[in-house]
Amino acid sequence: MMDTKKTVHDAWSSRFAFILAATGSAVGLGNIWKFPYITGENGGGAFVIVYLLCVMLIGIPIMIAETMLGRRSQRNPIETMELLTEEAGADKNWHYLGWMGIIAGLLILSYYSVIAGWASAYVLKAFTGSFFDADAAAIKGIFDDFVGSPVQLIFWHSLFMLATMLIVVRGVNKGLEKAVQFLMPSLFVLLLLLVGYAMTTGSYFQGLHFLFTPDFSKLTSNSVLTAMGHAFFTLSLGMGAIMVYGSYLPKGISIAKTAFLIAGADTVVALLAGIAIFPIVFANNLHPDSGPGLIFQTLPIAFGAMTGGWLMGILFFVMLVVAALTSSISLIEPAVAWLVESKGFSREKACVWSGLATWLLGLGTVFSFNVWSNVKIFDRSIFQLLDYLTANLMLPIGGFCIAIFAGWIMHRQHSEDELNMPAGLAYPVWKLLISYVAPASVFFVFLHVIGVL
Ligand code: PHE
Repeated sequence: MMDTKKTVHDAWSSRFAFILAATGSAVGLGNIWKFPYITGENGGGAFVIVYLLCVMLIGIPIMIAETMLGRRSQRNPIETMELLTEEAGADKNWHYLGWMGIIAGLLILSYYSVIAGWASAYVLKAFTGSFFDADAAAIKGIFDDFVGSPVQLIFWHSLFMLATMLIVVRGVNKGLEKAVQFLMPSLFVLLLLLVGYAMTTGSYFQGLHFLFTPDFSKLTSNSVLTAMGHAFFTLSLGMGAIMVYGSYLPKGISIAKTAFLIAGADTVVALLAGIAIFPIVFANNLHPDSGPGLIFQTLPIAFGAMTGGWLMGILFFVMLVVAALTSSISLIEPAVAWLVESKGFSREKACVWSGLATWLLGLGTVFSFNVWSNVKIFDRSIFQLLDYLTANLMLPIGGFCIAIFAGWIMHRQHSEDELNMPAGLAYPVWKLLISYVAPASVFFVFLHVIGVL
C-alpha cells in the first residue's frame, strides 16, 4: 500500500534492533529518577499497584497499537495519521494527534534535558570524590548548592542538548543498537549491586514495605492520574516516539511480543531503582516525599559509604546519562522526522531548529529551581507545570486517541493484517483492551480528577 512517497530514513536491521531502540527510549530518567520520587510523594504501595495495572491494561495494548500505526504508514506521526485516516475514510482532524505528540515531545525534552544535565554533573561530582564519607546532610547540601546555581544548570543542560542533537543529526539508528546492548545489562548489574547495599542499611524491609504494601487510603484521584500518566511516560507512549520507531520497523515482524519484552524490561528497572532507594531513604531519616532531588540525595550516600563506591558512583551516573540520551533522541525524533519528511528540511537544519527551541524552553525549568522558584502558575512551578501538562494530560490524551483510532477507526482487517497475531485469543484480547478497557480507564480517571465521578 502507501508507497506514494519515498521514505527518507533507514529501517532497523532486525526485530532485535527495534526492541533495543524502543527499550532505550522507554528506560531512562522516568524509571530511575521519576518513578522513585513520585512513588515517594504519593504514599508508596497503593500507587505502585495502580501504576503496574496501568502498564498492563493500558500501556501494553497502546504500545502495540502505536507501533502498529507507525509500521503501517512508515511515516512520521503527522503523516501517519493523515495516511491512515485516508485509508480508513475518516475525518481529517486526526492529524492533530500527530501535532500534539510532536509538541509534547519537545516540551518533555525541555525539562528532561535539565534533569539529565544534573545526572551529567553528578558524574563529575562522583569522579572528584565529593560523596566520600559524606552524611545525608552533606549530600543534601551538595544538591541544594548545585540546583541553586542557574549557571551550572544551564551549562549541563546545554551540554546534554548538544549531545542529543549530535546523535540525532546522524540518524537515530546508527550506534544506538550497540549503546543499548551494552547499557541495559550494565545498568541492571549496577542496580542489583545497589540493592545489595540497600540490604545492609538495616532499613531494607522498611523500604520494601513502603514500596509494596498498599494503603489505599493514601490514594487521591490526582495520585491515580499521576500513576496512569507515568505508565505512559515510562513506556514513551502517547506522543509518537514509539510510532516513529515503529515506522522504521520492517514489515513482517511480530509487534505484540516486542511490546511485552519492552514493557517488562522497563518495569523491572523501575522496581529495582525503588528497591535500592527507599531503604537508603529510611536508614538516613530522609523523607520519601523529597521531590525531584530524591535520587541525588540518596544514592550518593551509598556511593560514599560502600567499598568500590567511587567507581560505582561514576559508572552509575554515566549509565544514567546514556539511558537518558537513548530516551531524549526519541523525544525529538518525531519533530525532526516531520521537518525532514514533510517540510523538506535537511536533517542538520531540522536538528538545529528543534534543538534550539527545546534548549530555550528548558531555561524555564532551570530557573524554576532557583531564581524563579517563587513563580507559581496554577500553584505549580514551571517544571511542575510542564511535567503535569505533558505526563498527566498530553500523553494520556494522546494515548486515548491512539486507542480510539486503532480500536474504532482503523478497519479491523487492517489491524489484523498488520499485527498478524497467531490464531486464537491474542487478537480478540488486544482488540477488547484497545477498544474498551484502555480508553475507558483513561476517561474514567480524567472524570474522577475533574470531580465528575
Ligand atoms: N520513557 C522515557 C523515560 O522513562 C521518557 C520518554 C517519554 C521518552 C516519552 C520518550 C517519550 O525516561
